[in-house]
Amino acid sequence: MRGGGQAIIGRSALGGVLVALLLALLLGLPDLARSADAAGAQAAGRTYVGVASCAGSTCHGRMEADGKVVRQDELKLWQEPSTPGGAHSRAFAVLGGTRGRQIAATLGLGEATAAPACLGCHSTPAGARGPRFLAQDGVGCEGCHGAASGWIATHYAVGATHAANVVNGMTALDRPQVRAGVCLDCHFGSARPGQFVDHRMMAAGHPRVSFELDLFSTMQAHHNEDADYARRKGRTDSLKLWAVGQASAVERALTLYSSAKGSEGAFPEFYFFDCQSCHRRIYDQAERSKTWEANPGRPIPAGMPPFNDENMIMLSAAARVIAPGQAGRFDADSRAFHAALARDRPAAIAAGTRLAASARALADAFGAAAINGDMAFTLVAEVAGGAIAPRFTDYEGSVQAVMAVDTLLNSLVKSGRITIGAAAGIRADVNRAYAAVHEPNAYRPADFRAALASAARSIGALR
Ligand code: HEC
Ligand code: HEC
Ligand code: HEC
Ligand code: HEC
Repeated sequence: MRGGGQAIIGRSALGGVLVALLLALLLGLPDLARSADAAGAQAAGRTYVGVASCAGSTCHGRMEADGKVVRQDELKLWQEPSTPGGAHSRAFAVLGGTRGRQIAATLGLGEATAAPACLGCHSTPAGARGPRFLAQDGVGCEGCHGAASGWIATHYAVGATHAANVVNGMTALDRPQVRAGVCLDCHFGSARPGQFVDHRMMAAGHPRVSFELDLFSTMQAHHNEDADYARRKGRTDSLKLWAVGQASAVERALTLYSSAKGSEGAFPEFYFFDCQSCHRRIYDQAERSKTWEANPGRPIPAGMPPFNDENMIMLSAAARVIAPGQAGRFDADSRAFHAALARDRPAAIAAGTRLAASARALADAFGAAAINGDMAFTLVAEVAGGAIAPRFTDYEGSVQAVMAVDTLLNSLVKSGRITIGAAAGIRADVNRAYAAVHEPNAYRPADFRAALASAARSIGALR
């Protein structure tokens, strides 16, 4: 069985592959597209036609990537068992495996493969279903690209445009905010039925869910960002994707926390809080043994579980570099939110709503910002620097920081600012930072900060 820590290590081993993959992509131009409502693309009246409807051998089911416009072997990549790119086609099958059955049995849900509480994320969350739709296909093409009944017949026609497809209901995944919304539905949770992994599911054995938009996008990519793609959709700026992903994650967590999902019985919903803060050992001995650290970003008393602030920390770093005019407000709002959590739920909801608005304003600012590739160097230094690093006192934030450094390093390779050889040369430093978050129970904040600082220094030296 694979827990969060192992999955992270899997990702670090992927580093070489990632760099190679990213090299194959070309330099990014700013994507000025403003967000559209992700859910809007799946508006009422559209039918999910099923993977079989996309899989024809003259459509996306080719064995070779020899399509004129798109590869056309997307089905094969989506099914590839040996890579994370194939994870979505396996999502349903894992429900019937040992761990899936054990989780559902513990929760009294019956068969996981038939449990709505699981199917919202482990299959395509479809409303109206056509005759070829199968839940067993897992997270199918329409799970991300949107219900296809409105565009399946026209999207490959001569003269079809992306804009027209989007009008017909295709989800505009090329827009960072739209994509973030789609992925977060399952890779964090949403207010829709069957799309929330609460702490009771975690306690029943569900693996920890961790996510970073740019890194995960690369891991599951089944398209080539070639000149043709750039003409049709513009280039992806991975730094922008990372930053928008952080802002969207903060907004999503706060919106859900403020909803009915924010409490469970007489308690707050533990899913929103840092797991390790509660899951620590207690030492009954003469000498005090203190394992927690005070955190400058969170003015809360000892003994209170901290709201999981992994994305707030990254967003604070991103704001300082990309939208410095808004950084002060965001930091003040996030401190106020943590402080309000020590008072009562109404105060926390009010402060959380303000913080969500600051995060949304940052997502908008990042979407419109002219990103300069050198900013990735500045960001790596910022994440490991004096204003941010003292906030790495807990496991979740530290995992997010390593993913950030990895993503930013890859974006530097992608933009030609450092060579693939140079990136490979410092891979060991990045892997040491991954190793410091490999085992949640062995996590030591000071060791982690040292490993992160060393990785950041190596990257900085390549400037
Ligand atoms: C909010 C979306 C969501 C819900 C609801 C959800 N899951 Fe998951 N599940 C995920 C994600 C995302 C992962 C992958 C985590 C990772 O590796 O980052 C996952 C991973 C798993 C895994 C491990 C898969 C593997 O490859 O090892 C199992 C088993 C699993 N889920 C079972 C269940 C069961 C059973 C339910 C219902 C009780 C359920 N899940 C509900 C999103 C969800
Ligand atoms: C987990 C989400 C997800 C799933 C599932 C998924 N895709 Fe994608 N797909 C994306 C993203 C993200 C992109 C890149 C952004 C874009 O161009 O839309 C993409 C890009 C593509 C492209 C290239 C588009 C272009 O303009 O060049 C094609 C074609 C495609 N997907 C087809 C499929 C097919 C067919 C399936 C099912 C077998 C599928 N996708 C499943 C997320 C997904
Ligand atoms: C409808 C739910 C759903 C949506 C939407 C979705 N995912 Fe997933 N994703 C899952 C589940 C469930 C898993 C775990 C499957 C498993 O491990 O068998 C997963 C696994 C993955 C993995 C493999 C992770 C690992 O640790 O190996 C990647 C990468 C990934 N998703 C990226 C994305 C990206 C990027 C998007 C948005 C473009 C996205 N996903 C949208 C449900 C979803
Ligand atoms: C506010 C405190 C708190 C937070 C935060 C918290 N937990 Fe828990 N956790 C508990 C309690 C209490 C139990 C129940 C212990 C028992 O049944 O004896 C528990 C049980 C568990 C169990 C079952 C342990 C076992 O031995 O079977 C797992 C797994 C778990 N939590 C994972 C998580 C994860 C993952 C997170 C973060 C997303 C998290 N917890 C956050 C308090 C917390």
